[in-house]
Amino acid sequence: MIYPVIVAGGTGSRLWPLSRSNYPKQFIPLCGEYSLLQETLLRLNGLPHQPPMIICNEENRFITAEQVKQLKLLNTAILLEPAGRNTAPAIALAAFIARQQGEDPLLLVLAADHLIQNVAAFHTAVTQATALAEQGKLVTFGVVPAHAETGYGYIRRGEVAADLLGESAYQVAAFVEKPDLATAEAYLASGDYYWNSGIFMFKASCYLAELKLHRPDIYQCCSEAVAQLTQDLDFIRIDTEAFSRCAAESIDYAVMEKTTDAVVVPLDAGWNDVGGFAALWQIASKNEQNNVLRGEVFLHNSHDLYVHSDDKLIAVVGVQDLVIVNTKDAVLVAHKDHTQDIKHIVSQLKVAS
Ligand code: GDD
Ligand code: MG
Repeated sequence: MIYPVIVAGGTGSRLWPLSRSNYPKQFIPLCGEYSLLQETLLRLNGLPHQPPMIICNEENRFITAEQVKQLKLLNTAILLEPAGRNTAPAIALAAFIARQQGEDPLLLVLAADHLIQNVAAFHTAVTQATALAEQGKLVTFGVVPAHAETGYGYIRRGEVAADLLGESAYQVAAFVEKPDLATAEAYLASGDYYWNSGIFMFKASCYLAELKLHRPDIYQCCSEAVAQLTQDLDFIRIDTEAFSRCAAESIDYAVMEKTTDAVVVPLDAGWNDVGGFAALWQIASKNEQNNVLRGEVFLHNSHDLYVHSDDKLIAVVGVQDLVIVNTKDAVLVAHKDHTQDIKHIVSQLKVAS
């Protein structure tokens, strides 16, 4: 049975000031009626699965519970981290809890902040992955790269691992998390690489075995953190002291770069990780001047903009390729080609506060 595990503890700092630590991007309805977290939950409809688990920060527990309730998904478990330790520990907690219950489900690990336009194609890829995960493989889902993005992991395709309908799954010959630009450009040119979509599927026991092999320290802390679980109404809590000793590391660095048991299933489903304002601009519907406008905005002779205002009127004259965002307590003005660097402002703000 598929056990969806939704990792929802990120801060979405590249979408500041829309995304804030107490209200990160996965909880915002960025592209329609539902938040990205809700879209992630709704995307499971039609796949055979047991009730999902969402893993998020203690600070975001009420918004998470509220958004789950809105969808009437009553059996969804919400696991709280006292402080984020990135994705390798978060996924380990879910795997350990499943094993404690005497089960060894196929974990379908999903980021809470992605958009997928073609849900049927996503379901097909997940179904294709199921047989491979049951054989003990760690399945990644690979997206054909469109540009030399440095914010993603790259997967080099190896030998064919399985024939899928009109496609193949491949052994992962190499997995490189967030290469530098020159390396990403070389990967793109070679045609042998996929982007890592950040979606994974494996048996709980297989993930734990690989984690124990490559990061025994994380394995140990997480094992101790789930030894004492407490549950009140909606929330499951872990042992704070044990988890606070855990190193912060992503699954990509801790396990996927090191394992020899990974395969890649191609994913051609209109995947987008909404990684910044440029992506948001790309996805959204635009007016004739290629502008995305949210709120009260007046323009003259300006094009290719993303303009968002929560409360004030914004007037823009004679500019192009800008992102302008006004919220109650912060204003951002950035060039659309540099919006990945907004995270540096967020770091400065953290130091200052
Ligand atoms: N529970 C929990 N705790 N979730 C977390 C934590 C944490 O400490 N940190 C991050 N997450 C969640 C985020 O909310 C997001 O849903 C997911 O884990 C991935 O984290 P990101 O921080 O967004 O990762 P990334 O985008 O830099 O890189 C990953 O995704 C790329 C595709 O979007 C990697 O897997 C890359 O290899 C991949 O290409
Ligand atoms: Mg991301």
